[in-house]
Amino acid sequence: MTEHYSLNALLHSEVGWLTLLALALAVLLLRFRPLERSVYLNTLWFFLIGVFGQATAVPLETLAPDAASGVHTIFRIVTAIALIRLAGFTFFRLLLPLIGRAMPRIVEDVVILVLYVIYGLAQLRGAGVDLSSIVTTSAILTAVIAFAMQDTLGNLLGGLSIQVDNTVQVGDWVRIDELAGQVRDIRWRSTLIETRNWETIVIPNSAIMKGRVAILGRREGRPLQWRRSLRFMVDPSVPPARVIAIVNEEMIDVPIANVAQTPAPSTVLHGFVAGNLEYELRYFLTDLLEDEMTDSMVRVHLFASLQRAGIRIAEEQRTVHAVSRDEAHADLVRKRELGRRLEMLRQVDLFTVLAEDEMNELGERLQYAPFARGDVITKQGNIAHWLYIIMFGEVEVRYEPPNAAPQTLSTLRAGQFFGEMALLTGDARSATVVAKTDVECYRLDGKSFQGLLLGRPEIAEGIARVIASRRPELEKVREVFATQPMAVQNEQADLLSRIRRFFGLRAKA
Ligand code: CMP
Repeated sequence: MTEHYSLNALLHSEVGWLTLLALALAVLLLRFRPLERSVYLNTLWFFLIGVFGQATAVPLETLAPDAASGVHTIFRIVTAIALIRLAGFTFFRLLLPLIGRAMPRIVEDVVILVLYVIYGLAQLRGAGVDLSSIVTTSAILTAVIAFAMQDTLGNLLGGLSIQVDNTVQVGDWVRIDELAGQVRDIRWRSTLIETRNWETIVIPNSAIMKGRVAILGRREGRPLQWRRSLRFMVDPSVPPARVIAIVNEEMIDVPIANVAQTPAPSTVLHGFVAGNLEYELRYFLTDLLEDEMTDSMVRVHLFASLQRAGIRIAEEQRTVHAVSRDEAHADLVRKRELGRRLEMLRQVDLFTVLAEDEMNELGERLQYAPFARGDVITKQGNIAHWLYIIMFGEVEVRYEPPNAAPQTLSTLRAGQFFGEMALLTGDARSATVVAKTDVECYRLDGKSFQGLLLGRPEIAEGIARVIASRRPELEKVREVFATQPMAVQNEQADLLSRIRRFFGLRAKA
């Protein structure tokens, strides 16, 4: 072999642009993967040592041509190995994640190893070595090593086969025995699992291959979602069909973050426990990290919907021999609750005209109605049954145009009321009212309200004033979104006469 390693030749050979390439790749890696800095810097050093080594072969050539050729070959291999690594890193750690196809580290390792072998064989072949003898020798060597490293190889092959047959993938939520978490990486020997408690668990691949692994939320051809079950108990005096209908309606109507719409949440009567009926509310969770938060939100809605319907979550039934004390206690609770209602009613301007006994009667007739944030309390277009008085929290009044996004009309707070328009005019609900926060309301049914107005027509006038103050805003948005312009109505007088007509009231003398 007569090769000449002049410095000029070296600079003009492929080494020059390969060095530029290696530097460019290293800069990109260091810039975008700063956490693995040391790996990239070491590889870059390795590459530069290779280049420097090749350069030392130049002066050596005149002194000892054979040694120069050897030195040059060795350092060329060093350069090639470093370059293959850098290229592999760039491909697997920058390019693939960029197009959303990140691969586990083990695939990167295998590919880089295969490239080393291909390069090595190509070099040997170029040097005139008989490859078939090498293949035989290395096969025997591999068998010996394999025998000596059974355990390690079990893990390695475990890792490989997990990759190849795609059983578990990076990002999957898995449960292995008692442990549940998200697969962060699949490496040569082990798989890393991050739990919800911020622990990273290292599991040997052979254990994954031998044990039972549940992949959470994965079903062929379906989006990722995991079924959750929440149990609750209700007294057997409430018909199961009613409980199921109330809970299902709440769960289907109200969008709760991370609860899938299909399959829709559903409730089943699960069993009979300690004298109660036990129900199971099932829903599908779309973000597996948010399991407990979403369970909690679902429970809040479940609880509020049952409370509104006057249904209590039951406790285990026990026989307690303290009947008289219980009754006294129940009376105390009732009185305390009435006191709370009266206090609330006194804050509402409209009712300040009422005498003590009228207040008491109104207080008795009110129904407690709690709502969870996001609940739709009244829906535009529905028939009205209730007048709502807010005791705690805030609601948003929205007008929903036929072909446009909902328009916020107003926010109402504790001490204010809503639902009066439809109740008094007999029209459908003029707007949708949604709970902005968790809300506690008292509501009065239409009939009781009618009775109240018959006794106190001046309350109707007060309400007409409130309606007149609310109506312009409503008419304005209605007109903006109406297909045909609407005539603005003559406010207060017209309303009052409609209200009187509806209830058959006569103006006070
Ligand atoms: P109703 O029509 O029965 O149901 C929706 C309720 O939203 C309505 O009664 C009023 O109580 C309330 N509402 C409608 N428009 C407004 C508004 N502009 N400001 C405040 N509340 C309103």
